[in-house]
This record gives sequence, structure tokens and C-alpha cells, in this order.
Amino acid sequence: MADLRTEWLGLALASPVVVSASPISRDPDAVAAAVDAGAGAVVLHSLFEEQLVHEQMAAFRFLDSRTDLDAESSGIVPESDVFPLGAEPYLAELRRLRERVDEPVVASLNGTTPGGWTGYARELEAGGASALELNLYEVPTSADESGAQAEDRQVEVVTSVVGSVRIPVTVKISPFYASVPAFVRRLERAGVRGVTVFNRFYQPDIDLDALDVDRRLLPSTPAELPLRLHALAILSPATTLSLGCTGGVHSGEDAAKAILAGAHVVQVATALLTHGPRHVAAIRERLVSWLDEKGYRSSAEARGVLDASTAPDPHAWARLNYARMLDGWRSREDWRRLP
Ligand SMILES: Cc1cc2nc3c(=O)[nH]c(=O)nc-3n(C[C@H](O)[C@H](O)[C@H](O)COP(=O)(O)O)c2cc1C
Repeated sequence: MADLRTEWLGLALASPVVVSASPISRDPDAVAAAVDAGAGAVVLHSLFEEQLVHEQMAAFRFLDSRTDLDAESSGIVPESDVFPLGAEPYLAELRRLRERVDEPVVASLNGTTPGGWTGYARELEAGGASALELNLYEVPTSADESGAQAEDRQVEVVTSVVGSVRIPVTVKISPFYASVPAFVRRLERAGVRGVTVFNRFYQPDIDLDALDVDRRLLPSTPAELPLRLHALAILSPATTLSLGCTGGVHSGEDAAKAILAGAHVVQVATALLTHGPRHVAAIRERLVSWLDEKGYRSSAEARGVLDASTAPDPHAWARLNYARMLDGWRSREDWRRLP
């Protein structure tokens, strides 16, 4: 039976299936069930920069509650709860999980501006986090800050988090960089141990009846996976960092694809929220049976087999695959036959 042991961020994991940052981590029983079903590690939901900087939290809550302007100008934090202010509830949750499971527990910090809040990384380390995942989620909205300036700011955040702790730091990024490999190299030079690709860009729809924004969070589907596979295949030969894949991994087959493209771990949220934490076992079992069918002795042996290292010119390879794909379309019958 294929061996699923893997190394991620310098940590020895029993399996490459990791519980992704999500509300699952709020429920110690669910986390214990996922670990019991074979999860190699657990990432906690995020502690947001806005929770750690009082003024930012006030603005955040104000926007969320849409209460009167007096509340904002007087600095009063309105009651509407996006999440609690301060790190203590989060640290308590981390300690609870630490006591409950032996597998690595990764804390998640979510922020985009350099500032005092990055010092909280030390508290998470002291609270027993095995590693930190820093989520750089943001949507550029200002035409006054260039892409290069935004990247400089993000690298500054990463540098201060890495400088605060001894535990490994991994960074969860979006796909929206002019060059993902160049940005990842900057992260590597800043001292991170891994990257996770990619944040899902939450795309609010418009409700035409209510004339309002529809903010419902839709579950992911495996259709989101190919964007990640493509990035992993390019990053795998280009970096020595640990690679995490998040977004669209629902099955053992999806996990196998991510590993072939170069992932060290797959981070799963939607599928566990949908089917329950024990779904980890189904993903693991199918991954093992696929590895066995193909004659791989371990997931490590399969890792990166389909990355871009075999292409003498990855840029031309990506262009060629794109042109081939467009050229492969012959008629709408092609689409009718799709599953
Ligand atoms: C309800 C929910 C809450 C989430 N909360 C966080 C979070 O706090 N921090 C974070 O980095 N990602 C968060 N995520 C994103 C997931 O960790 C994951 O990256 C994303 O959902 C894509 O993986 P999936 O296709 O397996 O869902 C959340 C996802 C969901 C569905």
C-alpha cells in the first residue's frame, strides 16, 4: 500500500491531506474526527489583522453594521460582530486544539499592511502553533498604488512575520500577480518555508431583485482545481519551498492531480464542510488506491511527475498548451459530450 507520509514546511506529516483554514477548526470534535480519519495537519481559521488593530476593527464593524456615522467618528466599536476583537479567544482555541490532537496545528494570520499586529505571530508560536500560515488576501482597489508597490508592502508584512518567530511560515496567495513565480521567489528570499496556492477570490454576485450585493459564499467545485494545478506545475521546479494546494480538492483523484503537479499537501475545506470531517478518509483511501494502481510506492514518488521540469522552455510550454487547447475545439458536439 502506497506510503502517504510527506514533509511540509519541515514538519513530518502522516498524510498530505490537510484540513484547510475554515470553521472546522472551531470545533475540536470535528478536528479530532478529521485527524482520526487521516488528516496530516490542521490549519486554523484566520486571526485577522482587523481583529488586532482597534481602529481597523471599528471601521470593519462600521461597514458591516452600517450603523450611524456618529459611531464611526466617536471611535465606538458598533456591536455588529464580524468576529471578536483581540487575540485571546483565538489563542484559547489554539490551545484547546493543541491539547486535543498530536498532529501539527497551524495558526493562520490574515493581513496585508505592515504594522504592530504582526507581533501577534509570537503569541501564536507561544500558544503552541507548529507553523504559521499568513494569508495575504486583498483586492486592489486604489489606482494610486502600483502592483509593484502592493507587492513591496506584502513582502514587508511577510518579512516582519518571519522575523518574529522561529516556527516555519507559509504564505497563502492569490493568483493575481503579474508573475506568480517571481513573487514566490521574493517570498522565499524573505525566509518563508512554503506557499499555498490559491486563495479563492470571493466573488459577490448582484441580486437584481433586492438591488443589493449577494454575498453568499458558494461551495468550491473541482472546476477550480486546474488553475492551481497549472501554478503548481510551474512553481514545482522553480522553488524549493513546500507547496500547498487549496481550492477545488474534493476527492482522492483531485489530490492525486495536485501531487502530480507538485503539491506537498492538499488543503481541503469545502468537501469537509459538505461531507463532514471523516471525508478525509475517503480522499486518503482513493489517493492510496490510485497510487497503487499506477505503481507508485509513495505519494512522494508521484510528486511533481507532471510538473513543468520536463519542458525545456516553460513559457513556450504554457503558450503551446493554451494554443493546443483552443485549437482542439472542433464543434459544439465536443461540449455536448462533456460529462
Ligand atoms: C466557510 C469558510 C471559511 C473560511 N475561512 C478561512 C479563513 O479564516 N482563513 C483562510 O485563510 N481561509 C479560509 N477559507 C478558505 C479555505 O481555507 C480554502 O482555502 C478555500 O475554501 C478553498 O478550498 P476548498 O475548495 O477546499 O474549499 C474559508 C473557507 C470557507 C468555505
